[in-house]
Amino acid sequence: NQQEFKQMMDAHALATNFYSHILLNTVEGEKALEYLEKRGFSRASIEKYGIGWALDDFEALSGLLKRKGFNMQEMERSGLCIMKDDGTGYFDRFRGRIMFPLWDDTGNVIAFSGRSLYEDKEVAKYLNSPETPIFEKGKVLYNLHNARLNIRKTGKVILFEGFMDTISADHVDVGNSVAIMGTSLSESHLLKLKRIAKELIICCDGDSAGWEAAKRFATIANANGMNIRIALLPNDMDPDEFIQEYGGEAFREQIIGNPHSYMSFIMAYAKRSKNLSYENDVLQFIHEVLEELALRPSPVERDLYIRQLSEETNVSVEAINQQFIKMAGNRA
Ligand code: CTP
Ligand code: MN
Ligand code: MN
Ligand code: MN
Ligand code: MN
Repeated sequence: NQQEFKQMMDAHALATNFYSHILLNTVEGEKALEYLEKRGFSRASIEKYGIGWALDDFEALSGLLKRKGFNMQEMERSGLCIMKDDGTGYFDRFRGRIMFPLWDDTGNVIAFSGRSLYEDKEVAKYLNSPETPIFEKGKVLYNLHNARLNIRKTGKVILFEGFMDTISADHVDVGNSVAIMGTSLSESHLLKLKRIAKELIICCDGDSAGWEAAKRFATIANANGMNIRIALLPNDMDPDEFIQEYGGEAFREQIIGNPHSYMSFIMAYAKRSKNLSYENDVLQFIHEVLEELALRPSPVERDLYIRQLSEETNVSVEAINQQFIKMAGNRA
């Protein structure tokens, strides 16, 4: 109900200020601040994105919420606190993590993602709020409230996997990005993306998981009649890593400014897993691209990519054309 929603949002606003204060103004926050600085975060980004530090303490936030008069059962439902096994009280869900607020579309904090300071495989890199009455992960496009105006101005929305990528891109003046925080793109995400911009630029991580995600996103977005481009990153890098390594200008010009069309992405995708000095790989490569091409209505695309296939494989245009007609025939 409305009253409970309001309490939960108020608690999240309070928690945001609390975590942020600890990061920026206390000795306990110094290690996290150093970590962020090492990763290239500016003070301005830290403030704009409301980043904070959750003390390594079981009662820091719970104690504060209790003192402020919040109903602790409600606080458990909000994901901020967890009830002790013996039922005698509540403790903090987030401890010893860098805290990233997650917002709804109008900029209310509705959840958190907490990052560990360590790359240790034993602890989860990110700990997120659970699904609650105010937070459904599948509905959140990270940064939408900040990016809205830039998206409208450019007519383009860039989609990343991670919020680190969004913050990093914003720092180099690419302000029209959102992130879905992982690789599951929901109906709700799609609907929002479709409504807000004429063009969607899919920019997933450059590792294998990212390429697979990009393929999946592109396919779904195409099926939804969206106008898409796919921006690709070299050497398994993610957008944030690319920006740290090569800078904003390279990112804006080479990556975001030069995204692939769907078929051009398909060519790159099909080629990625193959060695074109092997006959089998050549056959497979041509087959995969033609299968996609058969689903596309444009004869111009057909001509263009069959010629490209021919150039890349040294198989004649005539032979590829015949193969294409044969495949289309089998399908019919
Ligand atoms: N994610 C998550 N839980 C994990 C790993 C990832 O919720 N254990 C989500 C996070 O929201 C993250 C996104 O998936 O932002 C992308 O994951 P990944 O690429 O692994 O993280 P990065 O954004 O690159 O984070 P970092 O640069 O800090 O490693
Ligand atoms: Mn700076
Ligand atoms: Mn990833
Ligand atoms: Mn990543
Ligand atoms: Mn990263």
